[in-house]
Amino acid sequence: MIDVCDILDALRWHADIGCDEAIGDEPTDWAALTARPVARAPSAGAGAAGGAASGPAPGPNASPNAVRGAGPTRAPAPARPATTLFASPDQPLGASEAGIQARARAGEAQTLESLEAALRSFDGCPLKATAMNTVFADGNPQAQVMLIGEAPGEDEDRQGKPFVGVSGKLLDRMLAQIGLDRSAVYISNILPWRPPGNRSPTQAEIAACLPFLERHVELVRPKLLVALGGVSAKTLLNRAEGITRLRGQWRTYEVAGTSVPLMPMLHPAYLLRNPIAKREAWRDMLALQQKIAEEGIK
Ligand code: URA
Repeated sequence: MIDVCDILDALRWHADIGCDEAIGDEPTDWAALTARPVARAPSAGAGAAGGAASGPAPGPNASPNAVRGAGPTRAPAPARPATTLFASPDQPLGASEAGIQARARAGEAQTLESLEAALRSFDGCPLKATAMNTVFADGNPQAQVMLIGEAPGEDEDRQGKPFVGVSGKLLDRMLAQIGLDRSAVYISNILPWRPPGNRSPTQAEIAACLPFLERHVELVRPKLLVALGGVSAKTLLNRAEGITRLRGQWRTYEVAGTSVPLMPMLHPAYLLRNPIAKREAWRDMLALQQKIAEEGIK
């Protein structure tokens, strides 16, 4: 008879070597593959490794959730056949049919509940097919501070809530330093579905989901926004610079005819790998605390 402990050990071993999905377009012989090369952020500023990875850690603009250098290389998937539904990488955000559909559906939602329902029934982003859960939001929808991360990681995908894994724990500690907790903030992500293996989201995936997030912000009407990490900051601000350039200054997010101050900050997952960068993060948290006081936010 098969021992349940043996099955658990085998599963753990597969997860440890990076084989945590069974959804590739082609079968992958995980045992035959050697360590995968570490993805490098295109911009300068890649920091020191902060984990078990043997290569250099990705920089602050790399996907913060990415599994770094722990597992084998996935065999390249064949190119996805062109569809009219999904955006191509060079299309501007919102120009894909999926983006147009998303905008129409999201625009109809008059409440957060109906927006969540519309998102859950939206099939325009292929990430939905591989995710376990739709991760909509956490925290207090009445809060005047809204934090926006990149995309759910493994823990978030499993639990259906944003920032509940290790980077979420660090985020909670950072918020606590300035007297905030999840009852005082509202949290969501650019993408509601986990990219397989925590890879960086593509422009097409962002384009398909962004209208929901934009409507989300419109409905919540926060007084202050915080973009956590490069993907979030660049997407919300429609800027090409990396997070190290964007962070540390109040920027502006235009929503429904009003300008909301937005602070881009380093992603907690980046801070876990690069503890030295917590100095900058602390400055940004203090700037947030000061703005909260200036705006008279309770
Ligand atoms: N990283 C993110 O950007 N969002 C989450 O929800 C979790 C980790």
